[in-house]
Amino acid sequence: MKLKVYKDYNELSAAAAAMIIDCVKAKPEALLCFATGDTPKLAYEMVADRAVKEKVDFSGTFIIGLDEWMGISPDNTGSCHWFLHEYLFKPMNMDASQIHLFNALAKNEKAECDKMNKLIRANGIDLMVVGIGMNGHIGFNEPGTDENSLTHVAVLDEITKTVGQKYFAGKVTIEKGITVGLKQVMEAEKLLMMANGKNKAPVIKKAAEDNISTSFPATLIQKHPNGFLLTDNEAASELKQN
Ligand code: GLP
Repeated sequence: MKLKVYKDYNELSAAAAAMIIDCVKAKPEALLCFATGDTPKLAYEMVADRAVKEKVDFSGTFIIGLDEWMGISPDNTGSCHWFLHEYLFKPMNMDASQIHLFNALAKNEKAECDKMNKLIRANGIDLMVVGIGMNGHIGFNEPGTDENSLTHVAVLDEITKTVGQKYFAGKVTIEKGITVGLKQVMEAEKLLMMANGKNKAPVIKKAAEDNISTSFPATLIQKHPNGFLLTDNEAASELKQN
């Protein structure tokens, strides 16, 4: 794992955006897997902006959504679906055929997982962009998730349910999430984990310095052969050295 610490959220986001753009320039048919949340928002806006201005060709890429809140409609502004369309797909004019997001309203959860597993197996993920939950989760791979897990529906941790309210306009009941599995996260050619802000400092300390364990899934980044932990100064402030 390589740790890279940037001055602030703006510089962190610009660096992440550059890694995404560089990946697509090197492999125009890349399969990209993107988390949502407050952390990568500016990076995606920067990707969209640069792609349009610099005419970076994303037309051959495929984009997978890392996770989704089960039972939440795609037009809910708190859904991962809405987020990716709003900040990335719409500004980039991305074709629907390139986009693979979970259907959170699917009656058949297994079929929904199988579809994603098949797509990942067929192509392999070139670049995976993830954030970190306050309990160390990656996507909805909650503490204790099997390291060999593929795409699955997870019962959400209490911390995830509480913190997750921040994305929604009003109080919602969120009990389950669908997510790409830890094995697939770890098998991505390149893993980019991002965190910013003071409230993520204890989480980053654990992710980078604790023993590797699925009881804090973000620690797995330490053993990814091409893993990058990108933070701003605030999120890195509790690290022994950076
Ligand atoms: C959410 C999502 C994750 C996200 C993480 C951090 O619950 N399931 O995919 O990366 O928690 O979110 P944020 O960037 O808003 O802190």
